[in-house]
Amino acid sequence: MKINNVTLEAVAVAPAGYPDNFKPEIAFVGRSNVGKSSMINALINRKALARVSKQPGKTRTINFYNIEDKLYFVDLPGYGYAKAPKHEMAKWGAMIEGYLKNRQQLKCIVQLIDIRHEPSALDMQMHEWLRHYNFKMIFVLTKLDKIKRSQVAKHVKIIRQALNLSTDDIFVPFSSETKQGRDELLGAIGKILGVDADE
Ligand code: GTP
Ligand code: MG
Repeated sequence: MKINNVTLEAVAVAPAGYPDNFKPEIAFVGRSNVGKSSMINALINRKALARVSKQPGKTRTINFYNIEDKLYFVDLPGYGYAKAPKHEMAKWGAMIEGYLKNRQQLKCIVQLIDIRHEPSALDMQMHEWLRHYNFKMIFVLTKLDKIKRSQVAKHVKIIRQALNLSTDDIFVPFSSETKQGRDELLGAIGKILGVDADE
């Protein structure tokens, strides 16, 4: 999947703000700070179209990136940001759930897990919820550049076991810094959404 033309088309807090068409969407889900917005920048080859921060809780709206007028990458607020005020957390939770549950155009979900750590209780909860709704899923293990190469296999195994992944599940170790995993991830997305690799 070639990506040259990308715009941030819609920034939404409710369905009225979602794009009003039927292009397929792929959403990026994971805890705050896991690297969702960074991953979108890496995939679209832009340094900072998606806003990134060292502080968790950066993305607070549902952001729709129009990719080549063919599909959308959807950046979501993270979960599990303990310092956010309770009413804010509840609002984000409802906003995310509302989008995930009701959006017909949503064809695939990428769940991001930090490769350095075992999935948290909230990661597991989200995982089970997504499985329950039978989404097509891709699992991405982020921040690959932060562990030694010799440690990768061990971490992959721990996470695969925790999430109970089968050999059919697609998972990709990924680094937004080195772009490792980028081509593989784009290939997997293209396949699921039916966009040809060279188009
Ligand atoms: P929220 O918007 O708060 O939900 O967070 P997010 O998941 O969008 O995370 P974001 O992309 O803002 O990244 C959080 C921090 O992790 C930033 O300081 C990024 O530079 C850093 N980061 C993200 N991906 C990588 C990666 O692959 N490698 C390294 N070394 N740092 C990363
Ligand atoms: Mg973000």
